[in-house]
Amino acid sequence: MTATQTRGPRVVLTPLAPSDLPWLVRWEHDPEVARYAGRRFRDGAEAWAWWRAAQADRRRAVLAIRTPAGQLIGDVELVEINWARREAELRIRIGDRAYRGRGLGRAAVEAAARYAAGVGLQQLFLRVDVRNVAALRCYRAAGFRCLARLRAGRRKADGLADMYLMARPLAQARAAHG
Ligand SMILES: CC(C)(COP(=O)(O)OP(=O)(O)OC[C@H]1O[C@@H](n2cnc3c(N)ncnc32)[C@H](O)[C@@H]1OP(=O)(O)O)[C@@H](O)C(=O)NCCC(=O)NCCS
Repeated sequence: MTATQTRGPRVVLTPLAPSDLPWLVRWEHDPEVARYAGRRFRDGAEAWAWWRAAQADRRRAVLAIRTPAGQLIGDVELVEINWARREAELRIRIGDRAYRGRGLGRAAVEAAARYAAGVGLQQLFLRVDVRNVAALRCYRAAGFRCLARLRAGRRKADGLADMYLMARPLAQARAAHG
C-alpha cells in the first residue's frame, strides 16, 4: 500500500524507501527490538524481499518514522489491514535507541493513527508483551485501551510472556488532531 506523508510536530511518517533498509537490518540486532518487536529479517536480501512484498500488499503499509529534519529513527507497520471491517494491527519500533524515551514513540503512534484514519480505517489494535513497560505507557498515552490478556500458555517454557490485546478507535484521532 502506498503512503503519503503524515506530519506531526515531533515526527514525520513517510513511505519507507529501499535506502532505509540497512538501518532496519541493523535495528533487528538490538536485543530490545528483537525481544519485544520480533525479528523480521536477518540481512539486506531478506529486508529487500520483505519490503517488496509489503509494496505489493493492500493489507500492509510500512512507513518510516523520521525527525522533522528527515533523520530515520524507526518504522511503523499496519498489518492485517481489513478494509471491510476498517481495522488494522499496528506495530512500531523506535529503532535508534538514542531516540527512545523522548516522547517520540508516542508521537509516532499518534501520527500512525492519523495516517490510518486518513486512509479510511476506523480502529487500530495491537498486541504487546506485558513486560514491555515503555510500550504499554506509550500506547496508553496514545489512547489505546486493553481488551484482553492473551495467555502465553505452554510458550512460557520458551521465555514468552502473556500479551495484552489493545485497541483504539480512530474517530478519536481525527477529533484530537483535526
Ligand atoms: C516501545 C517504544 C515504541 C516506545 O517509544 P518511546 O519513544 O521509547 O516512548 P515514549 O518516550 O514516547 O514514552 C511513552 C511513555 O513510556 C514511558 N517510558 C519510555 N521509556 C520507558 C522505559 N524504558 N521504562 C518505563 N517507561 C518508559 C514514558 O515515560 C512515557 O510515559 P508517560 O506518557 O506516562 O510519561 C520504543 O521504546 C521502542 O521501539 N522499543 C523497542 C521495540 C518495541 O518495544 N516495540 C513495541 C513492540 S509492541
